Amino acid sequence: MDSRQRELASALVEHIEIGVIILDAELRIQYWNNVVTQCSGKRLELALQQPLALIFPEADTLCLSEMLVLARDQGEHVYTEWHDPPYLIQLPFDTSGEPAPLMLQSTLLFPFKRSDDQQLFGLLLYDSSKLARDNNQLDAALHSLSSKQVEQERLITTLEKANAQLMQSEKLAAIGQLAAGVAHEINSPIGYVCSNLQTLAGYVHDLLRIIDAVDGAASLDEVRQLKRSLEYAYIRNDVEALIAESEDGIEQVKKISTALKDFSHFEEDEFRLADLHRGLDTTLNVVNNELRYKAEVVKEYGQLPAVECMPSQINQVMMNLLVNAAHAIEQFGRITLRSGQQGEWVWLEVEDTGQGIAPHLLNRIYEPFFTTKPVGKGTGLGLSLSYNIVRKHNGRIEVFSTPGQGTRFRVWLPAQQPTRPPIKEDADHHE
Ligand SMILES: Nc1ncnc2c1ncn2[C@@H]1O[C@H](COP(=O)(O)OP(=O)(O)O)[C@@H](O)[C@H]1O
Ligand SMILES: [Mg+2]
Repeated sequence: MDSRQRELASALVEHIEIGVIILDAELRIQYWNNVVTQCSGKRLELALQQPLALIFPEADTLCLSEMLVLARDQGEHVYTEWHDPPYLIQLPFDTSGEPAPLMLQSTLLFPFKRSDDQQLFGLLLYDSSKLARDNNQLDAALHSLSSKQVEQERLITTLEKANAQLMQSEKLAAIGQLAAGVAHEINSPIGYVCSNLQTLAGYVHDLLRIIDAVDGAASLDEVRQLKRSLEYAYIRNDVEALIAESEDGIEQVKKISTALKDFSHFEEDEFRLADLHRGLDTTLNVVNNELRYKAEVVKEYGQLPAVECMPSQINQVMMNLLVNAAHAIEQFGRITLRSGQQGEWVWLEVEDTGQGIAPHLLNRIYEPFFTTKPVGKGTGLGLSLSYNIVRKHNGRIEVFSTPGQGTRFRVWLPAQQPTRPPIKEDADHHE
């Protein structure tokens, strides 16, 4: 290196905004540049040949000696970052001479040899406060993000709770609807069984009179006369008819109560193998009173395997679809129930000849509270609940609708659940 090059090199070292300290093998100070003078507030003349630890007593000697071992004994360049130790050597002023008490440093210690083979070490000190500050901002940003996330999780929990409550209230609404329907269904058989009993009581009274007359009557003719006057022949006929009719009525009530029992495992939350057709028939029985005056119900069932599902929940989905179908029909129409299997999937379908759904509303019908029905008639929760149930079954709902002609809802369910929970056999048969 000629003198010009040497001059350039030392000008560079004096102007670069990096602290440069040169140490000998015993860590005695041989040189430092302007930045170190500026930032340490110490004078080089007083420090020359002094041990680094003496001039900078705050130096982290443990860290420094570790670095030195690596640099001296293994010839490595040893780099430390500001966040390991806060700083290696305290430089209380910044490069313009202003106090900068919190200056954070990164340092590089590396061995080199002079032309005369003397072992020396370069120690470079970088001000990494800015980096650290940026990093703090990053930290703060991350922190606020994570607190946003916590907030979001809290919101999601709240939403889930609200959703569960909605489900619950829709269940209650469904139960209410059911109860009204059941009351209606049971009323008429109970009504005529009651009136039959009254008539029968009258008949029994008359019959007893005839039988009593057998003992007290003077002649057989008198008894015959009484028989005729009490219309025995008519009573005889009618009694049988009344009893047959009453038995029918009681049978019907029994059927409804069985259907109800079947239908109303509302809290059941377990997958098991179930006969979907039986579920559909049960559901039909339950909503019969809503459908009867609105539509002729046609069944076009296909072949279905036992399907792994939560039967009462699928019943509820089908009930919602059936009631919606009935609501969509203005005068009198047809509701067709179909089922089928395609590979691993089964489907249930409810088609009506009702008013249909306008295309721009098709993607809104699953929204909670979306309803086009008058207050009191629609909650807007039926399809949203159904959607949730079907999704829980890893299935999907399709809808096809032509305004003015009708609507077809198809529920697809996997015959077997993909991640298979333990299956309970469908144990509760009718007695
Ligand atoms: N079969 C159907 N025919 C016509 N419109 C339907 C049918 N099913 C559902 N809809 C429309 O979807 C809306 C939402 O249905 P739903 O979630 O069951 O709530 P709700 O029956 O209480 O209104 C209904 O208000 C109606 O506009
Ligand atoms: Mg509905």
